Amino acid sequence: MADARQAPVGVFDSGVGGLSVLAEIQRLLPGESLLYVADGGHIPYGEKSPQFIRERCVQIAEFFRAQGAKALVVACNTATVAAAADLRERYPNWPLVGMEPAVKPAAAATRSGVVGVLATTGTLQSAKFAALLDRFASDVRVVTQPCPGLVELIEAGDLQAPALRELLLGYVQPLLDAGCDTIILGCTHYPFLKPLLAQMVPAPVSLIDTGAAVARQLQRLLQQRDLLAVGPAAEPQFWTSANPQHLQHILPALWQKSYIVQSFQS
Ligand code: DGL
Repeated sequence: MADARQAPVGVFDSGVGGLSVLAEIQRLLPGESLLYVADGGHIPYGEKSPQFIRERCVQIAEFFRAQGAKALVVACNTATVAAAADLRERYPNWPLVGMEPAVKPAAAATRSGVVGVLATTGTLQSAKFAALLDRFASDVRVVTQPCPGLVELIEAGDLQAPALRELLLGYVQPLLDAGCDTIILGCTHYPFLKPLLAQMVPAPVSLIDTGAAVARQLQRLLQQRDLLAVGPAAEPQFWTSANPQHLQHILPALWQKSYIVQSFQS
């Protein structure tokens, strides 16, 4: 019988954002074989209805199950608020890691008492995000900033593009003006903006994302079930529901290495 520990882990996002999480998983768990789906044909999730996102997530989850994935990582804040509960109900025995903006660590870290959140409209409007603020941010001021258009420009693959810089500055400046000393990157696409952000925010402002915490949570879940891989990992595999050639072309900038990207149709 096949060793369940050697099965791959399925990781997905609406697009390339989840690669920022995939990198953390690979760093912490180099023995794990990783499958990645970018649902780029349906980007941006941040402007779609929760019902639509749930349907996409089920399609992708079913694909990973057919590939024999031993666990699922929803490497997208927007998909987590829309679909994680539904996925957990559908697959109660399948280890699942979702993610949410890092409100708790940001509230603990701020010295100015003002925390900024950059995230998608879908995440910021969700009841789950409101509950997160109630729970962990009652003692600080939280300034939220939805960022329409940003994800599409990141997907284009030029992370230094003038249009990207201009749009980002328009979203970040109000947070700085409000006195934020801690900014949460509440969308998995945004860690790719760190080099640009470093040119925009003064040094004492810290940027917080949750990729590393997601990797640690995956490690815990796999450990609990004795599912941590024991052998060398297979090469990661990539699929996209958008144009595979485009992702293949921009992958080296986002993932240090080029890979063949397969077409994901469902
Ligand atoms: N990367 C996703 C997130 O973490 C959202 C991107 C989108 O709007 O499609 O929220």
